[in-house]
Amino acid sequence: MAERTVHVPLGDRAYDIVIGDALLDTAGARLKAKFPGRRFGIVTDTEVAREQLPRLIRSLDAAGIGHVEIVMPNGEATKSFARLGEVVDGLLAARLERGDLVIALGGGVIGDLAGFAAAVTRRGMDFVQMPTSLLAQVDSSVGGKTGINSPHGKNLIGAFHQPKLVLADLAALETLPPREFAAGYAEVVKYGLIDDAPFFEWLEANRQEIFDGGPARAEAVAHACENKTRFVLADEKETGVRALLNLGHTFGHALEKATGYSARLLHGEGVSIGMVLAHGFSAKLGLANSQDTVRVAAHLQAAGLPTRLADIPGELPLTTVLMDAIAQDKKVVRGSLTFILTRGIGETFIERNVDPTAVAAFIDEMRK
Ligand SMILES: NC(=O)c1ccc[n+]([C@@H]2O[C@H](COP(=O)([O-])OP(=O)(O)OC[C@H]3O[C@@H](n4cnc5c(N)ncnc54)[C@H](O)[C@@H]3O)[C@@H](O)[C@H]2O)c1
Repeated sequence: MAERTVHVPLGDRAYDIVIGDALLDTAGARLKAKFPGRRFGIVTDTEVAREQLPRLIRSLDAAGIGHVEIVMPNGEATKSFARLGEVVDGLLAARLERGDLVIALGGGVIGDLAGFAAAVTRRGMDFVQMPTSLLAQVDSSVGGKTGINSPHGKNLIGAFHQPKLVLADLAALETLPPREFAAGYAEVVKYGLIDDAPFFEWLEANRQEIFDGGPARAEAVAHACENKTRFVLADEKETGVRALLNLGHTFGHALEKATGYSARLLHGEGVSIGMVLAHGFSAKLGLANSQDTVRVAAHLQAAGLPTRLADIPGELPLTTVLMDAIAQDKKVVRGSLTFILTRGIGETFIERNVDPTAVAAFIDEMRK
């Protein structure tokens, strides 16, 4: 496959997202040309270290580039203050200088953690995203949001810090567990649902080829990156329209918290259920047609994703506990709830002042 490049024209923070087939194998030559004389601190997790890190190291070594590796446990719990401290200490202990770079090699967890570590180490080091999960390739590696979780909720501590380059190697997806691939696919679907109905229709027609690794996969990743870039350019710091990217995330984050950020519910799975709930809630409010909810749920279900609260294994906490988590959402402004609602597929909008009692009643209904 020919490489594709999506440019993110953010002035002096502009960068390219390169999408291709063997980018980890050729990263050394590319990094040497773009960042001559620099050293690299590679942050990754145990799974990715086993499956993909050797390819990157071989290519850095072949290019004569100095590097150190910092390997974190895999999983959402790694987005913590303790692990952030370990990464920063590792970078400093390796005597990486402010002009050196951090590489985030992994899924969204590593991208968020390593990006935040880069943002705060020596008051800001440059970094390169090398996303290895589908979710990271289509979403988290683009746009500069970095951060960690707090016991109070997800992503509550962080910084905006744009990468200098994103290398999305499609070959890396070959070792991604199928459940993780499906979870990432939920974020791909999200772009269609937000404001791109033709893309949703295209996904309905091409889902199988995307899962099988045919040419539609590269097309889907590139299109998702273009859509994300459009939102980032319009509203880099998420004071307005970028919030649409949170479709399904208010419900999803609450469910992730309720399930202890565990394997019971992956982030993308929470987003899948959350997007169906956002459509269902919009229909309940009389804003959207309930047929759209059915269509969205059918597509996600065909992709092997959970779409109902009942699809989550184990007991869910009381609705009041879920509502408490929703109240900690980062989109809460002076205590009032903001939701991404929809008038139909591809017609989302930001709704402020959503009545919490209506949300709680809807959740109660959905539990049955
Ligand atoms: N910053 C943003 O804009 C943004 C956007 C969306 C999501 N996120 C964050 O992203 C995180 C979720 O990302 P994720 O779904 O990539 O999770 P993840 O980073 O935990 O990766 C999922 C799992 O797949 C493994 N893995 C990744 N790539 C692999 C590969 N090529 N081969 C084998 N195993 C591989 C990882 O070790 C992990 O176990 C969440 O923390 C979420 O908050 C951030």
